[in-house]
Amino acid sequence: MALRLGDTAPDFTADTTDGTINFHEWLGDSWGILFSHPKDFTPVCTTELGAFSAAKGEFDKRNTKLLGLSVDSVESHNGWKGDIEETQGTALNFPLIGDPDRKVSDLYDMIHPNANDTLTVRSVFIIGPDKKVKLILTYPASTGRNVDEVIRVLDSLQLTAGYSVSTPVNWKDGDDVIIAPAIADEEAKTKFPKGFKTLKPYLRVTPQPNK
Ligand code: BEZ
Repeated sequence: MALRLGDTAPDFTADTTDGTINFHEWLGDSWGILFSHPKDFTPVCTTELGAFSAAKGEFDKRNTKLLGLSVDSVESHNGWKGDIEETQGTALNFPLIGDPDRKVSDLYDMIHPNANDTLTVRSVFIIGPDKKVKLILTYPASTGRNVDEVIRVLDSLQLTAGYSVSTPVNWKDGDDVIIAPAIADEEAKTKFPKGFKTLKPYLRVTPQPNK
């Protein structure tokens, strides 16, 4: 059955460009982003891996490890690395799983046969330190992902894991947030000392509590 939010991220052992990794052990207490690309030596994938590598400092700041994957071999990934650095100006700086036997691709349902029966789609799984799946995104091969959006949702997930809040449409780090409807006004006054505005009884906004 397909993975769903809140499920435990399946554990696996896989060969990567940084050697053999046991997923849960490798994650340790970090957050993790496991993401697939369809194929090595292809244009959109080359731009994505360059952009995720360029943003690695932002993921590090958020205690988040990146792990890429395709059904190509580790040898193929290693042969492609130079092109990523040459064309995108940033060397690949996180491991890529070589999954020619589709072990991990199948475990995470990354091959969608009606899109392509041999290549992975562009899947993104964000996994929390509790090893639960917090977010799933799926893009087709023809559409490159947006690194800023992945960082934005990571910020929301990390914020909402620690406070009784949710983040509104188009929220970005530093914007006001929404107080969980389950929190009564009296409790909200102590939990959110910066104060809050009540637009409707179910829609109360407060400055981002961890800023
Ligand atoms: C690409 O990265 O450009 C790509 C990869 C596989 C299929 C189509 C496009």
